[in-house]
Amino acid sequence: MSEKQVTGRKISILDIQTKKEQGIPITMLTAYDYPTALLVDQGGIDILLVGDSLGMVVLGLESTVPVTMDEMIHHCRAVARGARRGLLVGDMPFMSYQAEIAEAVRNAGRFMKEGRMDTVKLEGGREVSETVRAIVDAGIPVMGHIGLTPQSASKMGGFRVQGRTAFDAMRLMDDAIALEEAGCYAIVLEAVPAPVAQALTERLKVPTIGIGAGASCDGQVIVFHDLVGLFDRFTPKFVRQYADVSNVISDAVQNFAQDVINRAFPAADHTYSIDDDQLKEFLDQLDGR
Ligand code: KIV
Repeated sequence: MSEKQVTGRKISILDIQTKKEQGIPITMLTAYDYPTALLVDQGGIDILLVGDSLGMVVLGLESTVPVTMDEMIHHCRAVARGARRGLLVGDMPFMSYQAEIAEAVRNAGRFMKEGRMDTVKLEGGREVSETVRAIVDAGIPVMGHIGLTPQSASKMGGFRVQGRTAFDAMRLMDDAIALEEAGCYAIVLEAVPAPVAQALTERLKVPTIGIGAGASCDGQVIVFHDLVGLFDRFTPKFVRQYADVSNVISDAVQNFAQDVINRAFPAADHTYSIDDDQLKEFLDQLDGR
């Protein structure tokens, strides 16, 4: 399949696999609502992830841990309304898949039926492989996520690079292979040294999508709000900011306030008229009261 055939119509998990086989980099961005989905989809991005990062960049939470299934579904539905082409991935939030496999399958199903997603993503390695298998067996494609897994940042001692010792790198490799064998169609590698990510990418048959994992991954993902400069609290080392939308919006807000105060807005263009004779009649009636 040529790259041309992949563009234009809805992207499937087979297209993602084909891109790996053909050495064509896979693009992925987060989207959280209708306008970001429109922008990302129309920008030709292959995969739109409704990430649980929305807890931090949209809802203002300290971490992704408090994000609920209902919040995720609400945002997924908005993204699905805006996207036509990209593969849609719903991120399973903390405790929606860890406690029981049956509950994980039911929650993954909600992402498809209610959230209108094409696939789901969940964090973890060997410890979630049985869960991944059960969700895949239910007919729902699963994207894995290893390395820095923000839902378990507390257990990891914070947001830290993973796989920096030979022992840890081997564990990452074992996790990746377990996920692939369990049926994941792609695996996100977050905050992993580039040579380790390269070794995983070369060893795995399914594509790797890197975030802070170097240029050898089969694809790259970053958080939309980091890309456009809309998140104020911190910028991870692995982010390249492509726009400063926050300053653009801030200028617009200040200019609006000034125009209102100076009575420069609304101007005639933004105002509805009334025929002179109707206005006169109205004012005459008012005078007569
Ligand atoms: O929630 C998210 O945005 C993610 C990406 C960082 C991969 O999981």
